[in-house]
Amino acid sequence: MKSDEIRARFLEYFRKRDHKIVPSSSLIPHKDPTLLFTNAGMNQFKEVFLGKEKRPYTRAASSQKCMRAGGKHNDLDNVGLTDKHHTFFEMLGNFSFGDYFKKEAIEMGWELLIEGYGLPEDRMLVSVYQKDDEAYNIWSKDIGVDPSIIYRLGEKDNFWAMGDTGPCGPCSEIHYDRGKEFGCGRPDCSIECDCDRFFELWNLVFMQYKRDEKGELSPLPSPCIDTGMGLERLATILQGAKSNYENDLFRPIVERLLELGNLEQGASRKEDIAIRIIADHLRAITFAVSDGVMPSNEGRGYVLRRIIRRAIRQGQLLGFAEPFLYKLTGLVAHIMRNPFPELMDSRDFVARVCLAEEERFHTTLTQGIKQVEEVLEKVESSKGTIVPGGELFRLYDTFGVPLDLVEEIAAERGLTVDHKGFKQHLEGQREKARLAWLEGAEEDVKDVYRKLAPRIKTTFA
Ligand code: GLY
Repeated sequence: MKSDEIRARFLEYFRKRDHKIVPSSSLIPHKDPTLLFTNAGMNQFKEVFLGKEKRPYTRAASSQKCMRAGGKHNDLDNVGLTDKHHTFFEMLGNFSFGDYFKKEAIEMGWELLIEGYGLPEDRMLVSVYQKDDEAYNIWSKDIGVDPSIIYRLGEKDNFWAMGDTGPCGPCSEIHYDRGKEFGCGRPDCSIECDCDRFFELWNLVFMQYKRDEKGELSPLPSPCIDTGMGLERLATILQGAKSNYENDLFRPIVERLLELGNLEQGASRKEDIAIRIIADHLRAITFAVSDGVMPSNEGRGYVLRRIIRRAIRQGQLLGFAEPFLYKLTGLVAHIMRNPFPELMDSRDFVARVCLAEEERFHTTLTQGIKQVEEVLEKVESSKGTIVPGGELFRLYDTFGVPLDLVEEIAAERGLTVDHKGFKQHLEGQREKARLAWLEGAEEDVKDVYRKLAPRIKTTFA
């Protein structure tokens, strides 16, 4: 089943059950300074959950553009290393604003997966919040799921919040077992394991609370439902793909990349990871720029810049000596043109922004990486494991290599970086610059004054 059909089937299922189909909101959260990027389908309904806004409907469904890079939900560092984590992804979700609650949400979720998509029951597992007997009983008694596959888990896994404040609540997750061959092989491997055997497919959140700045919980005006299922994961399962990078959303990007770079998959693990990172980041870049995020040195612009630069570096590892990302953003737009036609309108703009950033970073990278390698070799040869702050600062100050890039390259060699030392050097330099500026300013003033003074006549009336 193609992704476009999977998405359509999801929305149609809920439309038939009186849900309003709501378009995805932008990746830039609307009037919400607590969020860097839209990170879940429920973001656009935050005020509705909190009871501050009323809508002409009490049930909704959407396929939401999400970005989990920076901020509370951050998958940036997992990308490429797993089959299932992404910076940008689409979240299929259904929502109830004081309408149905746990029982209907669980019943509909299960029915859609088993009957709507035909997933085999014997591959499914579920989890509930450890204290949530109600959800446990719905699964075991009403749905009739074998209690041996219902896991009671703690807050880390089964309590969901969009950020540090705002609506939140216990949740119940539906997992899919892809089989031992995808797993880590550890005897205790289970849905709690980070490996690629189990895909957490659908998260059903029972929105009951609001968390304030002090971290305290108070009840929402009425209990609500917020669910989220990653389209990319569902597509992988339904298409029998080995990983998300093999499904129809990613495969054409990977193929075009291989063609452009004259590459083959399976040459080395490092190269395979690089290919995955680039494919993932291309989607993030295309959607973010199309939604109006521009590379910059702060906030979401910085996260975007980091994503572009990381993709460029991975490209260099693959042998791309010239800008190449900009040649692929149009393909992302083409693949996603049905659900998001606006991508086709911004295609040229996105490519131009990408090229400009690639050109800007290219020189820095070529010179800087060599220096980074030398520093890392020095650390390794002295049997150290931490890159000293002074070296980090030198790389940054003299060669323009950002700290997170050094950190990433160091991590690939099992080394860490001295953040504190870097900060001290940075602050030291800022202080020096401030003093120099003050002195310079004083000098300038004195100088100007010296030159002007003889020409100024002081007159007293
Ligand atoms: N809002 C539910 C989730 O992101 O998992």
